[in-house]
Amino acid sequence: MKTLLTEAELQAGVARMALDIATAYGERPLTIVGVLTGSIVLLADLIRQLDMRLRVGVLQASSYRSGTTRGQLTINSEMMLNVTGRDVLVIDDIFDTGHTLVEVVAKLKELSPTSVKTAVLLRKHGRQEVDFEPEFVAFEIPDEFVVGYGLDYADQYRNLRYLAALEPEDLADDRT
Ligand code: IMP
Ligand code: MG
Repeated sequence: MKTLLTEAELQAGVARMALDIATAYGERPLTIVGVLTGSIVLLADLIRQLDMRLRVGVLQASSYRSGTTRGQLTINSEMMLNVTGRDVLVIDDIFDTGHTLVEVVAKLKELSPTSVKTAVLLRKHGRQEVDFEPEFVAFEIPDEFVVGYGLDYADQYRNLRYLAALEPEDLADDRT
């Protein structure tokens, strides 16, 4: 594995994004919706950088993937807050093909929020398959499979304090 972003770089990027978010919303209270599971570390750090009125909810988007390939997406929103008439900010770990966020945003819009915007830690370069851009992006990264700071490979590595790119030999090793 090689380090792509250090702990200090991640913290600085999240602080920068928090400032952009605070500036964009001003005095408007915010409903933050974290997409489980990859957003948990970002969510915890980001909300503590936001000195404003906000509520936090979560939903789960899982694509029955194991490893690095994607499958059918299912969204479980049983744990989410009421978003009707609220300014909603969806938080996710990475904008890769973009299908996850597009589907999550579509689902939230059915609930008649005042607005829905999206914030991601990472946007992977050259991978997008959708006509959609997140409003807030902390880092652009090259097209590599990354882990750490909430991101996993086969449910491992979410606890790394830095962001690392997996090398081909790491990908071949599927033991848990
Ligand atoms: P998308 O729907 O293709 O944008 O994929 C979004 C989801 O795929 C993210 O929330 C991650 O869970 C997962 N994902 C995409 N790329 C990576 C990666 O490089 N490392 C870990 N997870 C990834
Ligand atoms: Mg995810």
